[in-house]
Amino acid sequence: MKHSVSLAINGSVHEHDVEARLLLVHYIREKANLTGTHVGCDTSQCGACTVLLDGLAVKSCTIFAVQVAGKEIVTIEGLAKEDRLHPVQQAFKNNHGLQCGFCTPGFVMATIQLLQRYPDPTPEEIRHQLDGNICRCTGYRNIISAIQEAAQHIAPCDTESGSPREGLVLNQG
Ligand code: FES
Ligand code: FES
Repeated sequence: MKHSVSLAINGSVHEHDVEARLLLVHYIREKANLTGTHVGCDTSQCGACTVLLDGLAVKSCTIFAVQVAGKEIVTIEGLAKEDRLHPVQQAFKNNHGLQCGFCTPGFVMATIQLLQRYPDPTPEEIRHQLDGNICRCTGYRNIISAIQEAAQHIAPCDTESGSPREGLVLNQG
């Protein structure tokens, strides 16, 4: 039996009939055709599938699509504005925070939540906050540098409101 699921991804409404067992990550990749969200494991450990769900970073392989009907999702494709990268993306680029790039969408999405909680994070805070994301290539040092640079380019956000948009409009004007 299929269920109709409607949700907003990067501001656009998507509606599809899906099996109850369909994971959100597969909805995003196969129904919405947004393939920037990756699948790097089948154990919920790698974080490559991280997206924002109503402003909170979640591993989209741990949630069924039917569970998030009516919610707002932001994926890596929703961050850049026209030809301008989001400050977190730009900082990863500037600091060589990626090599193969497979893990990068997940790190970037998790970083947005991190910077909402820690506007000026220490390396230890970054390591702790991103311990759910795994990178095989970089050795993490450049990722930490990227996040610290991003923090300097992003205005402190309103952590009180918890608004999902607060972290996404950071210095985008
Ligand atoms: S694919 Fe979701 S944590 Fe690895
Ligand atoms: S850049 Fe290759 S897995 Fe992180």
